[in-house]
Amino acid sequence: MIPQRKSLVGWLWVVATTAFAPRPTRQWTRLPDSFGPTRFHGIHACRPRDGTSLSVLPHSDLQRVREVREMPEPLPLELKNSYYLLRHGQSTANVAQVISSDRMTLAYTDKHDVTLSGYQQGKDAASQLLDALERNATRGENVVFVSSPFARARSTARACLDGLQELDERVQALGLLVNTNVVLDERLMERFFGRLDDEAIYTYSYVWPLDKFNVTHTAFGVESVAAVCTRLHELVTALEETYERAHIVCVSHADVLQIAQLYAARADNVGAFSSYRFRNGEVRSMILGTTACLPEPSPLLPPERGTKV
Ligand SMILES: *[C@@H]1O[C@H](CO)[C@@H](O)[C@H](O)[C@H]1NC(C)=O
Ligand SMILES: *[C@@H]1O[C@H](CO)[C@@H](O)[C@H](O)[C@H]1NC(C)=O
Repeated sequence: MIPQRKSLVGWLWVVATTAFAPRPTRQWTRLPDSFGPTRFHGIHACRPRDGTSLSVLPHSDLQRVREVREMPEPLPLELKNSYYLLRHGQSTANVAQVISSDRMTLAYTDKHDVTLSGYQQGKDAASQLLDALERNATRGENVVFVSSPFARARSTARACLDGLQELDERVQALGLLVNTNVVLDERLMERFFGRLDDEAIYTYSYVWPLDKFNVTHTAFGVESVAAVCTRLHELVTALEETYERAHIVCVSHADVLQIAQLYAARADNVGAFSSYRFRNGEVRSMILGTTACLPEPSPLLPPERGTKV
């Protein structure tokens, strides 16, 4: 368990935000248990649409969020592969300033894809990625893209591959083998935001402060920080079994990547992830076992109405 920080001021803050915050009016409709098969297969039928290969959670959690009561084991201090975290480029949901996390309508569909400038951000990420690889890679090693199945992440992975192709001289100079098939993995999907899905982004401010006090909370039906860490642990374990000495680029979403970074770094409180925002199209190495290389935390400023995250 991660130590929980509880101060009087903190608790008053939590009580004030939960009790007096304006409630979203839209009701969250719980999917019936029998929902799975039909809709699930309907979505899976769309899977190869953009020609990517994929790997799917065997125990697919598309239609529900797991209840997780404590943080999983930390990630090992040494891994066979190196990991890089790439946040998707600007999406139509970023422009509309809504929370976009509903797996059933977003995984393997074209909804909330990148904008033109989001595609460009993904392409520009290639040079940031090469900067990180230059510090780290040895000739003959593989570069593999693993992406969330949400459109904005898949498109960003493709955009970054397009960028690498344009920078082929740098890739050749490093002697790297870039795998152009994007592997899709549901464990990189956006954190599910429960009743706040599709609401304005300022409603993130109902959840992020609570995350700092309780990594297992599921207020508003959100997926807890501990639940996200649990699927990240499973993902890394699976990738370690599949690849060796590869450079794995995980293309995902802001909350998931920020949680991944603090979890891998063994931060005291992974629930403080919201102070380490990733920009659209930003690449960071996933550093193991130390918080020394993290960017300066910026104080938690919940988004105001009309602000972009
Ligand atoms: C890349 O760098 C990271 C962190 O600096 C290190 O843990 C990892 O072993 C390096 N990987 C390779 C293949 O050199
Ligand atoms: C954290 O949230 C969980 C799930 O809602 C709850 O069971 C637990 O009591 C909370 N812990 C604290 C310290 O408030």
